[in-house]
Amino acid sequence: MPYQSSITRTYTFCAAHRLHTDQLTEDLNRKIFGKCNNLNGHGHNYTVLVTVQGELDPHTGLITDVDALDRLVKARIVDRFDHQHLNFDPAFAQVTTTGENLARLIWDLLVDQIPSGQLEKIGVIETRDNFFEYIGALQKPVVPSAIGSRRTDAH
Ligand code: NI
Repeated sequence: MPYQSSITRTYTFCAAHRLHTDQLTEDLNRKIFGKCNNLNGHGHNYTVLVTVQGELDPHTGLITDVDALDRLVKARIVDRFDHQHLNFDPAFAQVTTTGENLARLIWDLLVDQIPSGQLEKIGVIETRDNFFEYIGALQKPVVPSAIGSRRTDAH
């Protein structure tokens, strides 16, 4: 049964990256990633949204310890990535520094450390036009395939 309440805290950091993978040719990198593949990389002002869901404490009405959450995100995310080049972070040695992968990495760095409640999702705003979300693996119930089934609400 999913919780009904959540809190989202917002954090920012600045970082550089270059979209590139050694597993593809230079031409394919250029074709897939366009100018984001430019050799020297480029920077973003990243905004990270950390959403924690849980039951309200009956006395405080709070889901989690916000100060502890802020300390956690500062220590594990902001201090690690702010004013860095993401491609040089060991976590990105084998994966591209896309917003998708960044959101997943941030999830992995936080999910076991949430003070109380549980991590519901990570949002990463990379640019005005790019927003990424990650909600974890195997968190959502598997929905049976609708193929071959008959909709009972269709008339
Ligand atoms: Ni970029």
